[in-house]
Amino acid sequence: MSTQAPDPFTTLLDLNSGSLDPERKVVERRLSDMAGMHLEGYADGTADTVIYSVHEIPVPTTNSNLMSSTTVIQPGKVGQEYYMTKGHFHNIRDRAEIYIGLSGEGCLVMATEDGQYTVETIRRGTINYVPGGWAHRSVNVGDEPLVFFAVYPGDAGYNYGTIEEEGFPVLVVAGEDGPEVVPNPRYKDAAASEAG
Ligand SMILES: [Fe+2]
Repeated sequence: MSTQAPDPFTTLLDLNSGSLDPERKVVERRLSDMAGMHLEGYADGTADTVIYSVHEIPVPTTNSNLMSSTTVIQPGKVGQEYYMTKGHFHNIRDRAEIYIGLSGEGCLVMATEDGQYTVETIRRGTINYVPGGWAHRSVNVGDEPLVFFAVYPGDAGYNYGTIEEEGFPVLVVAGEDGPEVVPNPRYKDAAASEAG
């Protein structure tokens, strides 16, 4: 057996809150960590608001292991745009991922580097397949925390930079009759160059 394999273990996942027992590595993202990712700036005095947390079950980062995590996104909006994750490609681009929806109401926005995109539903019982080569961002469009579990190859890694620079082709915003998917005016800086 590879020395890279951990010993067998069991973790208890709270299907409603997303917390793990035992907790291992928890990453919290605040509005200040998301600067520039929503179309509008966040309101003064809200920089420290935690908008999502990722509860990871770390394993050695090799392709023979499966990394997993639970993500909890709080309900809320910046302007008309819902709270969401930063979104990323995998460092090793062809690595896939599976999401299992546990609680709340959300969307999974996926996009390729050449601008193909799809927006899928996340709710209790959904299983979303994120193929290799597709960046992925999840969005809480409901009034309760959105909770989902994710599994991916241990060596997948995270590339946030491409999304930070280019954004996703579409945004998920609150419309008059609920969530709407609209073009991102800043995608690959299209609006900025049009505006000159
Ligand atoms: Fe991922």
